[in-house]
Amino acid sequence: MKDSANGLKHNDGLVTSPTSSPAAIIQTESAVKPSLRKRKPISLPLEVGTRVLCRWRDGKLHPVKVIERRKLSTGPDDYQYYVHYNEFNRRLDEWANLEQLELESVEADADEKVEDKAGGLKMTRHQKRKIEETHAEEGHEDFDAASLREHEEFTKVKNISKIELGKYEIETWYFSPFPPEYSDCNKLFFCEFCLSFMKRKEQLARHMRKCVLKHPPGDEIYRQGSLSMFEVDGKKNKIYGQNLCYLAKLFLDHKTLYYDVDLFLFYILCECDERGCHMVGYFSKEKHSEEGYNLACILTLPPYQRKGYGKFLIAFSYELSKKEAKVGTPERPLSDLGLLSYRGYWTRILLDILKKHRGNVSIKELSDMTAIKTEDVISTLQSLDLIQYRKGQHVICADPKLLERHLKAAGRGGLEVDASKLIWTPYKEQGG
Ligand code: ACO
Ligand code: ZN
Repeated sequence: MKDSANGLKHNDGLVTSPTSSPAAIIQTESAVKPSLRKRKPISLPLEVGTRVLCRWRDGKLHPVKVIERRKLSTGPDDYQYYVHYNEFNRRLDEWANLEQLELESVEADADEKVEDKAGGLKMTRHQKRKIEETHAEEGHEDFDAASLREHEEFTKVKNISKIELGKYEIETWYFSPFPPEYSDCNKLFFCEFCLSFMKRKEQLARHMRKCVLKHPPGDEIYRQGSLSMFEVDGKKNKIYGQNLCYLAKLFLDHKTLYYDVDLFLFYILCECDERGCHMVGYFSKEKHSEEGYNLACILTLPPYQRKGYGKFLIAFSYELSKKEAKVGTPERPLSDLGLLSYRGYWTRILLDILKKHRGNVSIKELSDMTAIKTEDVISTLQSLDLIQYRKGQHVICADPKLLERHLKAAGRGGLEVDASKLIWTPYKEQGG
């Protein structure tokens, strides 16, 4: 039996969690009450763009927009509808049957009419150049209207719905631009070591008999108990880097993952046992970032999420920055979950220092101690109400009681990185 790791289910918590409410993911029920005005006779099949109520996995009706439709082979008038739930992140978009839709609630005037396309997911050259991405609400400003529309049109329907990786079957979250010959596959089978992907289980079984890798193809730069970090150079391991990008895009909606993996280093976190080193998550980092980014993309695979690995990867990225004697910041836009994880990390690190520190401490000192860029220090302290702008400068007002309250609310610290176990030379000094 396979362990089933349902990424979507995992994140249901996010949708209803009363403690986390970034605008990007959560809107209240009342904010999205469907309008029942403008009723007119319903004609089937429904048009793309139709707004209607749809029964979700929680058994309740939720407002959705029809993103795409497809004919079923069961009858000439049978269709399925790909719907986006207004209240939820795009990772919860799914194909719905007609019975799930409350036709009484259909709003008139579909706002766009798109013809059904046969095999619609062909890539343009522009799209081929990059391994795609989207935006979270907060990331929209990075896209002009035309490229945002192009992105949405091209990535609107999830192409691969499941993958098998190691002992897990994982439901995917977003579109990923796999080569066209994979576009008709519902499920893909990945080699958990070299990340090659295949259409059929038998192909994977054959591959596993031949594949010589038992860990990511790079240098082990950190080991702590059964956890290891490997550094993989995208230039030396191009295929691995590209496979990783295809895989990661299935869970990242907010990033442009370039095919040009030469320019990146990949840091792969693994849980190791006698069978090998099993990838848990990773982050990528540009070899030279003009913007001062110390992390490009971060992912914890869904079966391993909410266990502290995300914060471990973030902490690791700052340890690398410290070794480089630089401050860093993650590439923008951040996803909803990325923002939550970073906010949590920054909050805990800064509060810990403020609590222990005697006497005054400046923003610059906090930044130097942590390798967190000053802008991120300021925005975190501002969100905690621990900073004021007086006479042209920021002043930290760290009332001990307030600090204690925030620290309690900041939740678990995550897995610690033991910097003494990091054996690493910055890329520049490696001769890069
Ligand atoms: N619901 C509510 N809060 C959540 C959730 C969730 N589903 N997931 C993470 N969080 C918040 C919590 O505050 C959590 O801390 P807590 O468990 O102490 O409350 C904190 O984020 C981090 O939790 P971790 O267990 O350390 O992180 P995890 O291993 O789950 O990884 C990550 C976080 C990497 C963002 C993961 O959710 C992921 O891979 N998401 C998909 C890809 C993505 O969005 N990446 C970020 C894009 S932005 C960028 O790449 C620069
Ligand atoms: Zn392999």
